[in-house]
Amino acid sequence: MKKNILTLLDLTAEDFEAFFERAIELKKRFKNGIRDKSLAGKTLGLIFDKPSIRTRVSFEAAMAQLGGTPIFIGAEAPRMARNEPVRDIARVLSNYLDGLAIRTYSQDLLDEFAEFTSIPVINALTDLYHPCQVISDIMTVIEHKGRYKDINIVWVGDGNNVSHSWINAAAVLGLNLNLACPEGYSPDRQILENALGKGVGKIVVTSDPVEAVKDADVIYTDTWASMGQERELSSRRHVFEPFQINKALLKNAPDDVIVMHCLPAHRGNEISEEVLEGPRSVVWDQSENKLHMHKAILDILLNPKT
Ligand code: CP
Ligand code: NVA
Repeated sequence: MKKNILTLLDLTAEDFEAFFERAIELKKRFKNGIRDKSLAGKTLGLIFDKPSIRTRVSFEAAMAQLGGTPIFIGAEAPRMARNEPVRDIARVLSNYLDGLAIRTYSQDLLDEFAEFTSIPVINALTDLYHPCQVISDIMTVIEHKGRYKDINIVWVGDGNNVSHSWINAAAVLGLNLNLACPEGYSPDRQILENALGKGVGKIVVTSDPVEAVKDADVIYTDTWASMGQERELSSRRHVFEPFQINKALLKNAPDDVIVMHCLPAHRGNEISEEVLEGPRSVVWDQSENKLHMHKAILDILLNPKT
């Protein structure tokens, strides 16, 4: 049966472990000059309806490096261009491709593609979630901290799509996740309640960044205004200012804390230049690991065992 990644709740802890293991192995082999071709003859379509550097290029490079072919479809295919129903496009693309990575606004649109395709559909970011980002970010946490359990992962900033995927990861993997968000910018209540309802992990939402980072092993931040919210940035700036990851905030955190950001970063807003470029920052490792994790995801989803 095909496997989709629409949200991280589509995955079990065993699925996550398989991705981590495969990505770490593929990264090691790639760095040793071994060029695996496990996706030879396969094609991945990419429908991207929002801008992307990292996700698009790392999925395309992952596909090409494993011997497969990425086909960038852009945003013309979704019904916007010719008003064609998604279910029609989805069925047509199923006959041409082995997998589909989609970045769009609406999670419902993604779900509709998944319902009407017979090939795996991968969420490459929606307004609600960014699941593949968080899978590869946990790989980076493993590399730097040796584990993802029994450590304190602290989200500081907007309760956005990336934070929602962290919440889902916490509910599947049993993470300790503390989210410090300004009042009125907490994560979606339904997503949070659903995750809390699983009774796995420890998920706490507060509005005090200083208190939140005290025992942090990992501090994670993201833009104050996500794609589609750009016009809100000027009104948000004032509310979000105390949530900037800067040297003063880091003074409240343990010395060995790592700082993460999915990028693109806005220096002087959610993170200072000094911290982004400083010794605690692992953002370049994060962006590199997207390549290796996307290889693992494609290798596993596009080469199903049964
Ligand atoms: N982190 C991330 O998804 O970056 P892009 O928007 O450039 O793909
Ligand atoms: N929250 C950001 C993530 C970008 C990778 C956005 O949706 O714009």
